[in-house]
Formats: sequence, structure tokens, C-alpha cells
Amino acid sequence: MSVARGWPVSETVADRIRALREQLSDWSYRYYVLDEPAVPDAEYDRWFRELQDLEQAHPDLISPDSPTQRVGDRPLDGFAEVAHDIPMLSLDNAFSDDELIAFDRRVCERLGGDGLTLTYVAEPKLDGLAVSLLYRQGVFLRAATRGDGSTGEDITANIRTLKSVPLRLRGDAPELLPELLEVRGEVVMPHAGFEALNERQRQAGLKLFANPRNAAAGSLRQLDARITATRPLEFYAYSIARCEGVELPPSHFDGLQWLRTLGLRVNSLVARCEGVSALLAFYQSLQQQRAGLGYDIDGVVYKVDSLAQQQQLGFVSRAPRWAIAHKFPAQEEITELWDVEWQVGRTGALTPVARLEPVFVGGVTVSNATLHNMDEIQRLDLHIGDAVVVHRAGDVIPKVSAVLAERRPASAQPVVMPSHCPVCGSEVFRAEGEAVARCTGGLICAAQQKEAVRHFASRRAMDIEGLGERLVDVLVDQKLVASVADLYRLETDQLAGLERMGEKSAANVLAAIEASKQVGLPRFLFALGIREVGEATALALAN
Ligand code: IVH
Repeated sequence: MSVARGWPVSETVADRIRALREQLSDWSYRYYVLDEPAVPDAEYDRWFRELQDLEQAHPDLISPDSPTQRVGDRPLDGFAEVAHDIPMLSLDNAFSDDELIAFDRRVCERLGGDGLTLTYVAEPKLDGLAVSLLYRQGVFLRAATRGDGSTGEDITANIRTLKSVPLRLRGDAPELLPELLEVRGEVVMPHAGFEALNERQRQAGLKLFANPRNAAAGSLRQLDARITATRPLEFYAYSIARCEGVELPPSHFDGLQWLRTLGLRVNSLVARCEGVSALLAFYQSLQQQRAGLGYDIDGVVYKVDSLAQQQQLGFVSRAPRWAIAHKFPAQEEITELWDVEWQVGRTGALTPVARLEPVFVGGVTVSNATLHNMDEIQRLDLHIGDAVVVHRAGDVIPKVSAVLAERRPASAQPVVMPSHCPVCGSEVFRAEGEAVARCTGGLICAAQQKEAVRHFASRRAMDIEGLGERLVDVLVDQKLVASVADLYRLETDQLAGLERMGEKSAANVLAAIEASKQVGLPRFLFALGIREVGEATALALAN
């Protein structure tokens, strides 16, 4: 047996198994809750395998809270219903600062003081699925979806597979663990895991998920937990619905800290805030961080911190009066694909660009989005006339992320790659195995001429000041320039005759072109724009 490492002779198998489980769950806790990995994955895996081997040899010692017992061995026939003794509510929304200020005023009035500065907790509004977890005497018992708020589905087998959900709560003394604990939180799929999952789906020829939320939903809805186990899902706790047997801290914030000590993961951005101005500052700051978080959030949730005040405020219909969601501008919207146009780049590469019915997304109006290449179009099964999902996060270029095939109109047309260049009419060629198709026109193609001159004049190349995008367009369109060599034959009166170009600016541009003769050989080689010759290669060649 490969179990001798560090195993004292006097230790029984049962002792060893207990020690392995404790060590593994401690490492999981440090990794998921404290965000401080304690050992490399390989070390964790070694201990895990030792435990697996021991349990296999002694099946009577297997217990449901062992880290090896996260995955069941056969699919369910269906999900059982779970009645929520305490309903899973929703939240009211605030869509502007004013609506938030009005919320704060209402809450203060109800608590009997206009001039109050209330203590709140601000939390990211995670964009996943609400889940309820039940622990009895510290052992994970059951997990359920929100469903309609009163009845959800039993997804215990699936939730067991999430490493961020402890199968046993931490605590030195069993009497300090609650007799019963119901924790609620959100299951999300981080961006990196989502991209990797879609890549696997693509390679297996399976359907792609439109966004991390849908992927998380689809993963939790699996009847076979072995599939869920392969999906990168994470749980964050955000509230305590029930607690029996120990007294809760008097504030929501301290309650979350307590959950952490029990081994439950709480989002690290959760913060206590004094008064509405601190809430607004939190909102601004989180919005700045949004694109870099690595998981989707769609706003901020503010909660009155004191549990006594929460109780005083109570509920209206389906939502608490003591909490509100402050939404961010949507990063995804649905719009119509009007057309696909093909842009020709410097090396002749044809890039498809989606022309869209203008739509407000991610804080700006978007009417164009990149489609990368023909493979991407085929992957999306894109048709002109389709309803499409447009995604824009941070300052990133908007992209078409999914097609709503079920909404496809009968008149929709497949997107076809042009056989001839839309700019110069030369044949388009796509080498076998390459994603990119290219115009074969080379320097007879005006698009390639323009891109070549632009690259040549750019800052890292010949650095010709004043020779901007617009001027290059005009020079090529007027047939004054077809290649970079022509720049050096330009004369003042040719330039000065152009639209919005006086004698003075013409002289400046010519002086800049003249000065460019002084750049060194590496920059010149790079400026020629030879395929595969970047700055580093150009330098190596020059040397
Ligand atoms: S608290 C009674 N906190 O938002 C309060 N909800 O619109 C119940 N959500 O179904 C919710 N992040 O799935 C709360 N930090 C957070 C949240 C959060 C995301 C979701 C939750 C809920 C929905 C309500």
C-alpha cells in the first residue's frame, strides 16, 4: 500500500482516515474561503488518493462527509421537491442614485429618525443562481434551488460536487456548531472556467452556453452529478436563513464573518458602509472593478446591517424592506443582425464585422461588433436577420456572443464568405487549416495600401507625425500614394491642394516624412509590415 508516508506505527486505519480528511478539508478551506492556497495541487491530490485507497480497502469506514464522496455514482430519475420553510425572497431594484437615496430615506423614516446615518452592508450582486444549503450538527444535509421562492428542487447531489461547499462545518467543539443552519448564497461560474467549458463543448461538437449564468444553471440542472462535477462552479454565501442551537451575532456583517469561520465562502468584497454616500462610493468603486473580477456581477446589494433593525422593517410582498439591489448597466442585450461586412486588413485578412440594429449595452450605444473570422460565424451558426446577444464588458470591443436560434425569422440568410475582395475585387483565398481568409490583391488593394501606409507611419514604426488615418485615406483614394515609397515623392502643392490641408500643415507633414529617414534599420524593417516580422524579429534581422 502506498500509504506509509508520515503514518505513525500506532495509528489505526480509522485514525489515518480521519487525519487525511481533516488535512484535506483544511486545505480546501484555505483555498476557497481564505483565498490562500496552502499546498500545490499535486500535494492535495496525493493525500486525496491515499484517502481513496484506504477507503476502497475499508468501505465500512466511508462516511458521507468524506471529501471523496462528492460525486455520486448514478444519475437521478428526477429532482425531488423541497418546500422552503422560510421563503426565498427577491429584492427590489434601484436603477439610479436617486432611487437609492429615496430607499435610504424611507428606511430611516421607518426606523424613526430622518437624520439617521444607518449602517449598511454592501455586497456584489452575483449573477448566478440562488441556492439554499442545510447543515445539521455541522454536516451538509441538503441543497435546494430557489424555484418559485416557496418550493425549489433538491440538488443535493450536484451541490456536493462543489469544492467551495464544505461537507462538514469547521469548529473545534461540536457544541459550538449550530444544531441546524440554513445558509443561502449564489452559485456562479467564473469567466475562465466558462471559457474552458465552452471550448470543451466546441471540441466535442456540443451546444455552447450563451453566458456563465446559463452555463451555471445548466450545470446545476444535471440529473447526473458526475457531469456537474466537471463544471467549474463556485458558491458564495450571502445570508443566514435559519440558525438553531447557537446565538447569531447581532449584525449581518458579523454573521457573514461567522460563516467564514465555519468554512463557508463569503465574497471578499463585502463591506460595511456608514450612510448612503458610502453606498454610492462602493457602487462606483465596484463598477470600476467589474470587468476585472473574473465572474459576472450585475449590481450591488445593500442590506441594513443590524438584525434588530431588519426585523423592525420587515417585508412587503416578496421582498424585504431592509435591502435593495442597485443595478449596473446591462453588459448583454439582444438586438438584430442587419448585415455582415468584411474589413480588409494590412495583410489582406478579411475580418467579418456585424452591423447591428443600434442597442444600448455596457453604457454605450453599439451598432458594430467583431465576429473574428468565418469559424466564429459557423460556431455561432449566424444568419443575417438573427436575433443575437451582444456583449460589452469594460472597454473591451463589443462582440456577438450568441444567436437566439429559436427566434430566427424565415427570411434569415446564412452568412457567406465573399469569393472576391469587397475593396479591390481580387480573389479571396483561404489556406487549408487556417481560420483566416485573405484578399490576394496585395498592394493593388486600396484597403491593404491604406493599412500598409498606416502601419508604416505609426509611432512604433517610422513615427511620421501628422500622417493620420484620414490623411492616409485621402492620399490613397486620390491615388497620390499606393505604396510607402510614394510618400517620399510627395510635394507641397499636392498636399496643400487637399481638403482641410493648408500650406503650413502640408509643410509639417513633408518635414515629418523627411525626418523619418533617420529612424534606424530595426524600425524600418518593422515598418515594412512583412508578415511574421514584428519588432523583435526586425531587431534580430537588423543585428
Ligand atoms: S440577498 C432577502 N445578496 O439576487 C434577500 N441576493 O434579486 C435575498 N443575489 O435571488 C437576497 N447576490 O439570487 C442577496 N449578495 C447578494 C446577492 C443576491 C446575488 C441574487 C439572489 C436573489 C436575487 C434577488
